[in-house]
Amino acid sequence: MGAIKNVALVGASGSLGTPVLNALVKSGSFNVTVLKRPSSTATFPASVDVRTADLSSKDSVVAALKGQDAVVSTVGIEALPAQDILVEAAVAAGVKRFLPSDFGSNISIPKTAALPIFKSKVAIHEKLREASAATPTFTYTLVCSGAFLDWGLEHNFLLNWEETKPKLFDGGKNIFSATSLDSIGQAVVGVLSHPDETKNRFVQIKDIDISQSQLLDIAKKVDPAKEWHDPIHIDTADLERSSNESLAKGQISMPVMVGYIFRAIFGPAEYGSHFQTTDNELLGLGGKDEADVEAILRKLMLGRSSVEAQGEKWLT
Ligand SMILES: NC(=O)c1ccc[n+]([C@@H]2O[C@H](COP(=O)([O-])OP(=O)(O)OC[C@H]3O[C@@H](n4cnc5c(N)ncnc54)[C@H](OP(=O)(O)O)[C@@H]3O)[C@@H](O)[C@H]2O)c1
Repeated sequence: MGAIKNVALVGASGSLGTPVLNALVKSGSFNVTVLKRPSSTATFPASVDVRTADLSSKDSVVAALKGQDAVVSTVGIEALPAQDILVEAAVAAGVKRFLPSDFGSNISIPKTAALPIFKSKVAIHEKLREASAATPTFTYTLVCSGAFLDWGLEHNFLLNWEETKPKLFDGGKNIFSATSLDSIGQAVVGVLSHPDETKNRFVQIKDIDISQSQLLDIAKKVDPAKEWHDPIHIDTADLERSSNESLAKGQISMPVMVGYIFRAIFGPAEYGSHFQTTDNELLGLGGKDEADVEAILRKLMLGRSSVEAQGEKWLT
């Protein structure tokens, strides 16, 4: 297929959308358009063409996507079902490549795909396959990044380092792959720069393979003066069971869904969170090492405590 020049980004103001937008603009390879919701108050750099589209109206989205070669979606979890209309509109507008809002676990693995948290993402993959079969000029790429590395540490998600008793899942020894937000932005640029090599398939990327125990060791190294107590051990099979019970009672809450995410990231090898192969080289990713992780934690842990020491409120 021909080169991709015009790229529309949906969800550009989000946690992931912001670094993806930066990477697309910084690459200098694309004309970047942002699609935002009518209710969105987000602002964007002057070099970016901003269009407003109602994601619940196919006509509105088709009009906004006219002339675009590719659509990258980084919409948040609440908006994942809205991608249904986005895909239909992209096909109707003649878009050549669609990257849905994936950026996490590898849901080509049936056990992982079966976790309820991934239902919307699995459904969109199915829709993309059908759309591409019906309209072969419409293609897609599914980006698996593993856990967000910097975001996951900042939000105490990969390790709750702010506690004195960190939580370790399944003993904390399972290795999982993780990628920083900037590297994901770089990978999106890489996919759009290599449309033939990335056509209609999953791509896997990672900065590092690491375990919670390793993260805890790094956290202890960064802040040895902190009073670290024995970790709290949590079994991800229990978490999954408890989330299933809540879901069966109609309780759909973030903690319930997070139980499934912890199972997918920290659970046994069959969930595939330790990526054995990657597309790093094709997409231009160099990877990170433990020193990089230490630098992220150092900034978070020491930055945060010194701000708190001054009695100020920590702002992320
Ligand atoms: N692997 C991991 O560890 C990990 C962690 C977090 C997230 N993720 C994944 O990364 C992707 C992006 O997540 P994120 O956390 O970056 O998203 P986010 O910050 O919650 O939201 C991204 C954007 O979605 C847009 N949006 C459109 N319709 C919306 C609606 N109805 N409600 C709320 N927002 C709406 C908004 O953009 P506008 O205001 O411009 O319209 C918003 O800024 C998702 O697929 C998520 O599952 C992965």
